Amino acid sequence: MQERMVYISGEMVPESQARISIFDSAVMLGDTVTESTRTFAHKPFKLEEHIGRLYKSFKVTRIDPQCSADTMLKITQDVLAANLGMMSPDDDCWIVHNVSRGLAIAGADPTVQQGSATVMIFTQPMNLLPWVDFYTKGCHAVTPMSRAIPAQSLDARIKNRSRMAYTLAEMEAKLVDPLAQSVILDVHGNVAENKGGNIFLVSDGVLKTPTTANCLEGLSRQVALDLADSLGIPTVQTILQPYDLATADEVFFTSTPYCIMPATRFNGLAVGDGQVGPITKRLLNAWSALVGLDIVGQAQGQRPSGS
Ligand SMILES: Cc1ncc(COP(=O)(O)O)c(C=O)c1O
Repeated sequence: MQERMVYISGEMVPESQARISIFDSAVMLGDTVTESTRTFAHKPFKLEEHIGRLYKSFKVTRIDPQCSADTMLKITQDVLAANLGMMSPDDDCWIVHNVSRGLAIAGADPTVQQGSATVMIFTQPMNLLPWVDFYTKGCHAVTPMSRAIPAQSLDARIKNRSRMAYTLAEMEAKLVDPLAQSVILDVHGNVAENKGGNIFLVSDGVLKTPTTANCLEGLSRQVALDLADSLGIPTVQTILQPYDLATADEVFFTSTPYCIMPATRFNGLAVGDGQVGPITKRLLNAWSALVGLDIVGQAQGQRPSGS
């Protein structure tokens, strides 16, 4: 079988041959910024915007990728082109950028980039099965004990791979329900984000989401806000608390792979009438129209036949 190709620091190599040093700052410090872009019908969605956010992360973290955003875009398109032939026509893929500060020799000043950044870009077919039932039944949103890292320590707008805190939070949510999706609160008890997504609610016809004071400025979050505008649904970015989710008419998450994931339970309580709500459905349909692909149908098409 033909092997997928990945890009690693200047070279395109088969996936199984891509290697980084055990002294890389990705390993030593979790000192890595990241992006995940997806394709729709094999075309990357908002790739320029993802690269734009990556370069903001580089600036704030003082990682020097040693190439321009235009070059990064071109390399990314080359990685996709090298792998598209291996993808089935009905599937899509994500394109992941992981960029670390490079070698971090123990004892050396970790704030000084010692050499080249380690630039890793790969694509993988997107497995949508973990979310497929949630489109129609909704998921169970649960608040874990662990809180989001305050922006005073690490601004959530930096899309980074220092994910211990969010991984533990997600595990805690899954102690309550193995299929739960985390609603991580900040240290003030306000709703922040999911370990890999943003959070929305609908109350009295108004779509609300936290401000980016405590969450990533998700590109899917922005698509949901823009689609709501175009559908005449009022939107508000504001402080939200668990009470607001518990009393909302609708709740959903947004993220690059699944776009919109409805939640029909919050901490064991039914959200609204316990069904996926009408505004959530309108937004999902509008998103499918925007990208020219039935988002839910594509995920359902991945179900093994007979299930
Ligand atoms: C912590 C976090 N919040 C939100 C998101 C959603 O961002 P986007 O919509 O750009 O995928 C992600 C995506 O990976 C994330 O990791």
